[in-house]
Amino acid sequence: MPNLYETDQALSEYLLMHYGTDAELMPWAFGPADAIGFPSRTVAYFPEKKASRGLDIGCAVGRSTFELSKVCDEVIGIDYSASFIEAAEEMRQHGSIDYPIKESGQVNSRATASIPEHSNPEGIQFLCADAMDLPANLGQFDCVHAANLICRLPDPAKLLKRLPDLVLPGGHLVLATPCTWLEQFTPPENQPSQDTFEWLSDLLCPSFKLIKKADEPFLIRETSRKFQWTVSLVTQWKRCV
Ligand SMILES: C[S@@+](CC[C@H](N)C(=O)[O-])C[C@H]1O[C@@H](n2cnc3c(N)ncnc32)[C@H](O)[C@@H]1O
Repeated sequence: MPNLYETDQALSEYLLMHYGTDAELMPWAFGPADAIGFPSRTVAYFPEKKASRGLDIGCAVGRSTFELSKVCDEVIGIDYSASFIEAAEEMRQHGSIDYPIKESGQVNSRATASIPEHSNPEGIQFLCADAMDLPANLGQFDCVHAANLICRLPDPAKLLKRLPDLVLPGGHLVLATPCTWLEQFTPPENQPSQDTFEWLSDLLCPSFKLIKKADEPFLIRETSRKFQWTVSLVTQWKRCV
């Protein structure tokens, strides 16, 4: 099956989700406006104090990576989609990118995605790599973020088992997942057979201590009249010393 995240439609939808204005993303006054801004809201779970290194795994077109660069001197954004990483890198170098927004059928409008104010593009490196087989020489991080990624992986436990090595003692991990376990991405034998939060706790403890558990809505606009509204389970963990 072709990679869903290499299509022009996915690129446009993710640029809009990450960088669209409120009016571009939700043109209806009665729509769920509180679902806007998800890639910034999950980064806000990290402590506000300045940190040295951040890692954003499954960064897509990079909004959370730019947000992390406000608090971390150096940030690595990793995604498996070459077209997402290419767009994120173009934004890092030039500050913005133009893209089409699908209105309906063959009708598109144009928009410009710009990097957020106060981000630090010079401190960011975007890499195309597999979250289940991350480069061995990544080092350790104060902040590791993986939003809406684990239920898109064929073997999510491979990433979860690598996390204790990636997060510095005392460092923080923010995981978000809509728990939409689908055979299309994850074979049943690699999906949790229990509640996703319990499964995460079993795999992460005792290396990590739970700090916070919350629900965060997010919105993907497919056309001006069709949206995906989803609720992600967000957990914040501290690496035990
Ligand atoms: C549902 S999107 C979430 C993107 C972003 N974190 C967000 O919250 O908007 C899943 C992302 O994971 C990426 N992805 C899927 N499989 C991956 C893998 N094996 N390694 C790294 N990234 C992967 C996809 O390319 C896509 O960008």
